Amino acid sequence: MRVFVCVLLLFVSLKAEDFITKMEYAKMLYSNPRGIGCILCHGPKGEGMIIAKYKHKGKNMELKAPAINSLSRERFFKALKGSDSVMPKYFLTNDEIEALYFYVTSEVNR
Ligand code: HEC
Repeated sequence: MRVFVCVLLLFVSLKAEDFITKMEYAKMLYSNPRGIGCILCHGPKGEGMIIAKYKHKGKNMELKAPAINSLSRERFFKALKGSDSVMPKYFLTNDEIEALYFYVTSEVNR
């Protein structure tokens, strides 16, 4: 009986280690989807940031990635389904986009 309980506990603890929360999954995906992390351009929490500074005809210019933490679901999906100018095209599934949306708009992330 004791052995059985031990084996059961071991099994339970191994299972627990396998388990990642929806939030952890979403964060992982945001940091590294298909090799190019959203995080690199949109910042750690989707707050947007300056990607590059350069000069154009003697003027200082900035290339910015917009904040994506308070967009509507429709706009978020549209941006990831279509191809925009600077952003790489990712070919993410709806579930992946849903997870990303969950991550950047979640309260825990503020
Ligand atoms: C190479 C930099 C870069 C990366 C990487 C990147 N983005 Fe973007 N993103 C941009 C830029 C710049 C724009 C503004 C539109 C444009 O010029 O493409 C944008 C636009 C968007 C928009 C639309 C914003 C709006 O106001 O409608 C969303 C949503 C978005 N990105 C989400 C993501 C997500 C999610 C990822 C990761 C899967 C990601 N982006 C990766 C640079 C990037």
